[in-house]
Amino acid sequence: MSKKDRYETFKQMEKVCKNCTKCRLSQSRENVVFGEGKLNSKIMLIGEAPGAQEDKTGRPFVGRAGKLLDRFLEEAGLSREKDIYITNIVKCRPPENRNPKPDEAETCLQYLEAQVKYIQPKIILPAGSVAVKYVLNTKEGITKIRGQWFNLKDNEVKVMPILHPSYLLRQHSENPETPRWHTKQDFKTIKKTLADL
Ligand code: URA
Repeated sequence: MSKKDRYETFKQMEKVCKNCTKCRLSQSRENVVFGEGKLNSKIMLIGEAPGAQEDKTGRPFVGRAGKLLDRFLEEAGLSREKDIYITNIVKCRPPENRNPKPDEAETCLQYLEAQVKYIQPKIILPAGSVAVKYVLNTKEGITKIRGQWFNLKDNEVKVMPILHPSYLLRQHSENPETPRWHTKQDFKTIKKTLADL
């Protein structure tokens, strides 16, 4: 982060981000989706990019994928409001929901890095392959590494890749060994780890 990108307060950073024009996504967005949740949350969930509903409302994970995420969190005994800060790799919606381009992600990562610095989560959950790529700097496939723990920052932060809720919308079964079932198990593990922190 360059000197001019250091922020006095979280609110100031949010304001700067909401006026950001550093990449082309700023030209087509309706709203910047900065992120939401308590600033002392122990868990940070990181998605890929805002979709149509998020762009309209300025809030992360409020569309169909978000509703599914809410249900899984609730079933595992996790509270979206109390336990989790939710944000994305890029804060503006890519046109037609395409994947963010590497230069867009690289430009936007300074906000995510600052969010992590302020919030200091103990657990980070990158959801889906794009978030995993930028959080863990790996090319490993999400289906291979989901549900596994990784360490960041000299073991201060535990990272568990999870399947993306939008992918789970297309996987309907919740029978054992299905993607939805695995995700429910992952959230149970996360809840237990949170309780043990
Ligand atoms: N998908 C994401 O990755 N993030 C959102 O905020 C909504 C859908």
